[in-house]
Amino acid sequence: MTGVPPITGSVDEARARVEELTRLIEHHRFAYYVLDNPEISDSRFDELYRELEALEGAYPELALPGSPTGRVGAPPSTDFKEVTHRIPLLSLANAMNFDDLEKWQDRLLRGLEIEDENASLDYVCELKIDGLSIALTYRNGEFVEGATRGNGAVGEDVTLNLRTIKSLPTRLNPVRVSADGTFAGPASVAGGTSSVTAESSAPLVVPSLVEVRGEVYMPVSSFVGLNQGLAESNEPVFANPRNAASGSLRQKDPKKTASRKLALFTYLVYVTDDRLAQPGTQHENMAILKAFGFPVEPNWRRVSGVEAVKEYCRDFDERRHGLDYQTDGVVVKLDDRGLWNVLGATSHSPRWAVAFKYPPEEAETVLLEITFDVGRTGAVTPVANLEPVKLAGTTVKRASLHNASQIARLDARPGDTVVVRKAGEIIPEVVSVVLKARPDGSQPFVYPHQCPVCGTALVRFGEEVVVRCPNTYGCRSQIERRLKHWVSRDAMDIEGVGEVLVEQLVKARLVERPSDFYRLSLESLTGLERMGEKSAKNVLSQVEASRTRGLKRLIYALGIRHVGTMGAELLAGRYDSIDELAAARSEDMAVIDGVGPTISEAVVEFFQDQHNRELIEDLKAVGVATEKDESELKSPDLPQTFAGKIFVITGTLARMDRKEAEDAIKARGGKASSSVSKKTDYVVAGEKAGSKLEKARSLGVSVLDENEFLAMLESS
Ligand code: IVH
Repeated sequence: MTGVPPITGSVDEARARVEELTRLIEHHRFAYYVLDNPEISDSRFDELYRELEALEGAYPELALPGSPTGRVGAPPSTDFKEVTHRIPLLSLANAMNFDDLEKWQDRLLRGLEIEDENASLDYVCELKIDGLSIALTYRNGEFVEGATRGNGAVGEDVTLNLRTIKSLPTRLNPVRVSADGTFAGPASVAGGTSSVTAESSAPLVVPSLVEVRGEVYMPVSSFVGLNQGLAESNEPVFANPRNAASGSLRQKDPKKTASRKLALFTYLVYVTDDRLAQPGTQHENMAILKAFGFPVEPNWRRVSGVEAVKEYCRDFDERRHGLDYQTDGVVVKLDDRGLWNVLGATSHSPRWAVAFKYPPEEAETVLLEITFDVGRTGAVTPVANLEPVKLAGTTVKRASLHNASQIARLDARPGDTVVVRKAGEIIPEVVSVVLKARPDGSQPFVYPHQCPVCGTALVRFGEEVVVRCPNTYGCRSQIERRLKHWVSRDAMDIEGVGEVLVEQLVKARLVERPSDFYRLSLESLTGLERMGEKSAKNVLSQVEASRTRGLKRLIYALGIRHVGTMGAELLAGRYDSIDELAAARSEDMAVIDGVGPTISEAVVEFFQDQHNRELIEDLKAVGVATEKDESELKSPDLPQTFAGKIFVITGTLARMDRKEAEDAIKARGGKASSSVSKKTDYVVAGEKAGSKLEKARSLGVSVLDENEFLAMLESS
């Protein structure tokens, strides 16, 4: 923990600081997420955020409505109550090709009674983000409600989950308004990216009601990381970022949503206010959204005429693949919003917009060879090695064949011409075989009976579709995968040790199980190929730093089946050390909200294995911390009412032991010290309290008896 000042001073000072922090955080959030132009470092931002959290914890009544910490009046879980949309969320008519686009333009001209066939209308082209649409409501500048589309008329309330999305503004920036009520620019021109010039004399307005439409999505990079984690803990993976976003937004526990790294782009704003008029054009609509503080997909463009629309679509067919979000088309909107009312909508889509859809990304290529990947838990998955082919912006050489039954169903054989598709444009898969192109004399593929890495006979457990190599501790592939998992970012995060180095270390027999990392020496490392003294020292210091990564990461790093980052967090929330977890009974674990029998039985099974028990002992022997550190003992669920306060416990307490009392103090953000000084805020005096109590009295430190202390704990 760095730099969060202790809570001292009067309530008025706290109030002023809460207001200042709220404003500062919102300003920097905007600079970072919307303008892409951060003014302070990430760590400084985190410091401000934590300071606000601590203050709001100590003085919940001071938290401002719409606070960026999202703590105000937040009940613990989302109940997804129904929300009737004030303005329905319609869908869009599709244009599957350029012909459809022209027909749409013809319909517009007819609808607007424009006789001249060559008339050119202005459009705004926006990339169609493949996520899920949401409706956001702001009253007097505060985010009050967010809902999913649902059936278009009624959606689900996901306000709390939306609050976890960092780029979503919890309070709106005021905007400048001209005398005639039109938008005159953002309040501040920081970043200078607005297309509207601000008139600094124009008054600032926060409209009383603002409705926004946008798309929540999962960045491709987050999706890949999420699926990797899920796969490693043997949980079902998401088929594409869209499903992952939808699943993550509809979690009962907002904490889980927060762990999923969702993002937002907005594209429509409706203003209800006497002082500010509805945007007159779609391009002005985009500028207003930005001025309020909303993230807007930056590649939108205003164009004239349908030919320019086609040009935009062609241009982005390739370019869109370089973005960290998935797009499945271009949304074309008539720029003049005044005309929207003239054209109206059908029962399900507006006439003034259309979605140009890019065709699905498929390609034909030759299946050269089927190889096998042996994972951390021994799961053997077939991989299609392909004649390289261009697909959705990248060159594909490998594609998933999922499992043995998939190969059998497809009857895929080396030498076949196959159709590959990017499922959600990320993981390519083989979808079918072009039987017409099958070479003469080809034989059905025979699935191996032995592990392709170590030769052990493969097995299938119970109902599982996956085939596994049971040689858990002897199969090189499994050993490597476990070690790679140990060093990975969400586990012990040993940055200097990448996949290639792990392979080198295993090959050189320097590392076989995680505890061996902590026995590496300068000599053993510099003996490796391409490893200089400087890199070796770097590796050693990174390994050293990972000895104390905390219990949560350690539990995850052990690679217990079914225990992902979330499961590890839940278990670390309940147990204080690996030994406690190892001794826990399955029934006791299963009562933890979110744990259930699959995880708890896997944990018990893990610690029953002699190899794993030896590993834990060896980790302790090499100095890896297997107990919670102080920061983990703080419970984020409790209000941090003792933040910055120093307690000393003396004498014998009747209703709790000293450790319990100290944990209770730490869980509320306080510190437990063993000696009394002027800095001590409270001395808790039990039976037979002696010199410490005297010292407290002589220094004028507040003294609490056990009952007073318990009352203080209860009131927080
Ligand atoms: S405008 C009434 N703009 O596409 C018009 N939609 O197929 C509403 N979408 O439900 C939509 N990007 O979830 C609009 N720039 C964009 C969009 C966009 C993605 C989604 C939206 C909508 C669906 C329609």
